[in-house]
Amino acid sequence: MRKTDKGTVVFVCQECGKKSLKWLGRCPNCQQWNSFIETAVIAPSSLPPSGAPLNPPMELSQVVITATDRFPVPLAEFNRVLGGGLVAGSLVLVCGDPGIGKSTLLLQVAALITQSRGKVVYVSAEETLHQIKLRAERLGLKGDNLYLLAETNLGATLDQIQALTPGLLVVDSIQAVYLPELDTAPGSITQVRECTLRLMHWAKQSGVPVLVTGHVTKDGAIAGPKTLEHIVDVVLYFEGEPFSAYRLLRGVKNRFGSTNEIGVFEMKEQGLVEVENPSLAFLSQRGEAAIGSTVVSTLEGSRPLLVEIQALTNPTSFGLPRRTANGIDFNRLLLITAVLSRRLGLKLGNQDIIVNVTGGIKIDEPAADLGIALSIASSYRDMPVDPHLVTVGEIGLSGELRAVAQLERRVNEAARLGFKRCLVPRTGSNVNHAGIELIPVTTLREAVSVGLIKSATTGPAAD
Ligand SMILES: Nc1ncnc2c1ncn2[C@@H]1O[C@H](COP(=O)(O)OP(=O)(O)O)[C@@H](O)[C@H]1O
Ligand SMILES: [Mg+2]
Ligand SMILES: [Zn+2]
Repeated sequence: MRKTDKGTVVFVCQECGKKSLKWLGRCPNCQQWNSFIETAVIAPSSLPPSGAPLNPPMELSQVVITATDRFPVPLAEFNRVLGGGLVAGSLVLVCGDPGIGKSTLLLQVAALITQSRGKVVYVSAEETLHQIKLRAERLGLKGDNLYLLAETNLGATLDQIQALTPGLLVVDSIQAVYLPELDTAPGSITQVRECTLRLMHWAKQSGVPVLVTGHVTKDGAIAGPKTLEHIVDVVLYFEGEPFSAYRLLRGVKNRFGSTNEIGVFEMKEQGLVEVENPSLAFLSQRGEAAIGSTVVSTLEGSRPLLVEIQALTNPTSFGLPRRTANGIDFNRLLLITAVLSRRLGLKLGNQDIIVNVTGGIKIDEPAADLGIALSIASSYRDMPVDPHLVTVGEIGLSGELRAVAQLERRVNEAARLGFKRCLVPRTGSNVNHAGIELIPVTTLREAVSVGLIKSATTGPAAD
C-alpha cells in the first residue's frame, strides 16, 4: 500500500468495492470504466472493539423467544412483505428509483408506529424540516412522538438520538448520510458501506429496528454497492412505472421471513394507500371484448394477481420489424413470437409487435406466456379474446402448453373476480375449482382457437 500525505491509500471501485493498489481504468471485477477512486485506509470503525467481552455460547434450549421480538406495522401490505412485522434490532433497506415514493412510505410508517411504539426518529439527509412538514401535512399525519432531524452526519446523529430511546429509527437515504472520519464523499462505496455497518451495529446494540432508504441506479443495482444487500437483514424493492399510480413493494432478501410476498399500494394525493384487491384494481379499466387484450392469472410470491396483457401488431413500415416488451421479458416475447410464427403459421416476420402489461406490473414467470400469445394472435387476426376468459400456461418450443405451479390458487382468484372460463394446460389441470369452468388444452393452436371469438371477424384473418 502507498503512503501519501493522506496516510495509507488504496484505490476502490465505486461500483463493486474491489480494491487495487494502483489506479485502474477499468474494473477487472465488474467491468466498469473509470470507477476507481483513491481512498484512505482506515480501520473499520463500525465494528465493536476487539477487546469487547464476547457473549458466552448458549444452549439452544435455553434461548427464549419473546413476543416483543417482532411487532406488527399497522399497514397490512407493508407488514406482509416484512413477514409479519418488524424485528427488534433489524436493519431494513427499502430501495427504489428516485421519486417512486420511498420517503412517503417511510414517513407514513414512522407516523403509524408512533401509535404503538412511542417515539420514532426520522432522519432526513435529503430534505429540510420544512419539506418534510409540508409532506406530512399533505399526508394528514399527526406529529406526536415523531421526531424529525435534517442531518447528514450519521455518527453525530446516532450519538444524539441514543438518549431519546426511540421505538424505530428511519434514515432517508443511505447515499446521503456520511461519517466525517472517512475522507470520501457521501454516496461513495466506502461511505455507504461504513454507514450501513454503523447502523447495523447501532440497531443490534440498541434493539431498535432501523428502516433505511436507498436509491437504485438505471441498471437496477442499489447505487454504488451491491455489497449493501449482504450486510442488511431485509431488502425490499419499491417499484412501479412512472406513468402508473400503482406501486409494488417486493421482498428480495429477508433474514426473518419469506421473500415471496408483495405489497400493493396506490400513490394518491394523500400518500400511499393500500390496495386490498389488486386484481380488481388492475382490471378496472378493461373494456368488454377488446382486441389484443387477455387476462392472465399470475402469481406474485404466494399471491395470485389478475392482470391484463395487451398486444398490438402493425405492419412494419420500413426496416426490421420491431418488438417492444413493457412489463414482460423481451426474450420471452421473442420466443412466443417465434412459436406463433412457426407452429401456428402467423406471419409476424413483417409485423411490429408491442406488448404491455397494464398497471405497471412486471411479470417474470412463464405462466403468462399463453396470455401474451393469445393477445398477439388476437391483434394479428383482428378477433377479440373472450372477455370472460382468464388464461394460464407456459408455452414450449414445439407449441405445447406446459403445467404451471399452484394452478388452484390462480383459478380460484379468477373465479373470485367473476370470470367464467379459464384456459389451462391439460397437464396438471385436475384441481379443485368452484364457480368457473376449466378448459384444458394441449397446444397453443388449440388454445387460440378456443380463446378467440370467431363470429366477430372483421379484418384479415390470414393464417
Ligand atoms: N401533491 C402531490 N400529490 C400527489 N402525489 C404527489 C404529490 N407530491 C408528490 N407526489 C408523489 O410523490 C412522489 C415522490 O415521492 P417521494 O416519497 O419523495 O419519493 P422518493 O423518496 O422515492 O424519491 C412523486 O413522484 C409523486 O408521485
Ligand atoms: Mg426521498
Ligand atoms: Zn468494480
